[in-house]
Amino acid sequence: MATPRSTFSNKFGFVAAAAGSAVGLGNIWKFPFEVGKGGGSAFLIIYLIFTFVLCYPILVTEIAIGRRSQKSAAMAFKPLGHPKWTFVGIIGVICGVLILSFYNIVAGWVLGYFVEMLLGNFEIGEHFDTYVTDIAEISGYTLAFLLATAYIVSQGITKGIEKASKILMPSLLVIMLILTAYAMMLDGAGAGVAFYLIPDFSKIDLNVIYRALGQSFFSLSLGLGALITYGSYLSRKEDIVSSGIMITFADAGIAFLAGLMIFPFVFSEGIEPEGGAGLIFMTMPGIFKTMGPTLGVVIGSLFFLLLAFAALTSTISLLELPVSYMVDKHKIKRKWAVWYSAGIIFLLGIPSMVGFGYSDFFTNFITYVGRTEPVNFMDFVTDIASNTLLPFGGFLVSVFAIHIWKRRKLFRELSHGNPGFTRSWLAKYISFTLTYISPPVLGAIFIITILEVFFGVKII
Ligand code: PHE
Repeated sequence: MATPRSTFSNKFGFVAAAAGSAVGLGNIWKFPFEVGKGGGSAFLIIYLIFTFVLCYPILVTEIAIGRRSQKSAAMAFKPLGHPKWTFVGIIGVICGVLILSFYNIVAGWVLGYFVEMLLGNFEIGEHFDTYVTDIAEISGYTLAFLLATAYIVSQGITKGIEKASKILMPSLLVIMLILTAYAMMLDGAGAGVAFYLIPDFSKIDLNVIYRALGQSFFSLSLGLGALITYGSYLSRKEDIVSSGIMITFADAGIAFLAGLMIFPFVFSEGIEPEGGAGLIFMTMPGIFKTMGPTLGVVIGSLFFLLLAFAALTSTISLLELPVSYMVDKHKIKRKWAVWYSAGIIFLLGIPSMVGFGYSDFFTNFITYVGRTEPVNFMDFVTDIASNTLLPFGGFLVSVFAIHIWKRRKLFRELSHGNPGFTRSWLAKYISFTLTYISPPVLGAIFIITILEVFFGVKII
C-alpha cells in the first residue's frame, strides 16, 4: 500500500463518527413514523430486540472486517483472501446509493422546515402535503444539502466528520431532552406514552417484524458496509467491542427518546400516528407554535437545524460508500468520484421527490401482489434497499465471518485493543449469534418477506 490511510484520532473520535453515521433521520424522522404504522409499543419491542440481540454482533464484525482489510466495503474481501465475496460490498455500495437518493430528499425537507421555522411559519405543519409538492423549492434544498455532503466527503473522511459529530450530537440530545420534558406536560402525554410503551402483542405480525428488522439495520447504518469503511480508518489500538456497545446504545437511545418526545405531541395535536413519512413534519411546528412567537422560532429552528446536521453526518457515510469504492478500485481522484456519485444520486432521487403528490405515477408507484394500497417510489426503494437488502447484507456478513473468514481470525482482530476479549462472555455471545442466530433468522425473514411482502404468498 503506497500511502497509509488516515485514521480517526482516537476511540472517541471513531465512536463519535460512527454514532454520527448511525444517528440521523432514521432515528428522529423514520423511527417514530414506523412505530406509528407498526402499532406503537409492538414495533418498539421488536426493534429493541433486533438491535441489541442480533445487530450488535454484526456491527462489531463489520468494523473488524474493515480494520483488518484496511479497505472500504467493496474492496475489503480481497485482502482477507476471499475476492469472490466482493459482491457483498458491491450490493452495499448500490444500497448506499439508493438510500442516499431518498434520504437526501427528506434532508431537503428538513432544511426547508428550518427556514420556515426561522420565519415563524408554524402553519406549515398543516400544509405538509402541499409543501412537498413544491418541487422548485424542494429540489433547491435537496441540492444544497447534497452539495454540503459532497463538499465534506471531497475533503477526506476523518477531518470533517469527527469535529461535527462531537459538538452537534450532544446539542441535539439536549434539545430533544428539553422537548421531551415539555411533551410530558401536555394534555395528550398520557395517551401518547401509553401508545408508545404499553405492550400490545396482538399488533405483532410479519409486517411489523419485517419493518422493525429493516429499521434496526437502517438506523445502525448496518448491512451495507458503511461500518466496514469506517472500520478501515480505525487504529489497531482501539477497542471495537466496547466502541460497538457505545454506538448501539447511542443509536437506540436517541431513537427511543425521539419516540418519547413525539407521541405525546402527536396525540395532543390529534394527529394520526399512522400518518407515515410526514409525521414529524406535521407534528412539530404546531408544538413550536404553542411556545409563543419568540421561543417557538428559536427552539423550532434550532431543532430542524440540528436535525439537518445529524442527517449530514449520516449522508457523509452514505456518500463515502460509492466514493471510497471508486477511489480504492478504480483509482479515480477523490474529488471526481464525489461529484460523479453526487450527480447520479441527485438524478436517482427525483422519482422519490415527485412521489409525494406531484407526480401521480411515482406517488402510486406500485401495488404489491395481494395488496390494495399502492406505495410511493420512496417506500418502494425503502422496501427493497433498506428493509430487504440490508438484513440480507447482515446475513452474508455473518456467514462470511464464521464460515469463510473463520471465527479465529475475527476474534484475533477483535482482540486488538481488547486483549481479554477471547475469554469474555461477550465473545461467546457474539460467536453464538453469528453462528446460530443471525444466519437462520435473517435468511428465513429474507425469503419469507420476499414471498409475502412483494408477491403476496401467505406463509405464516
Ligand atoms: N443510520 C442512518 C440514520 O439512521 C442512515 C444510514 C443508513 C446511514 C445506512 C448510513 C448507512 O439516519
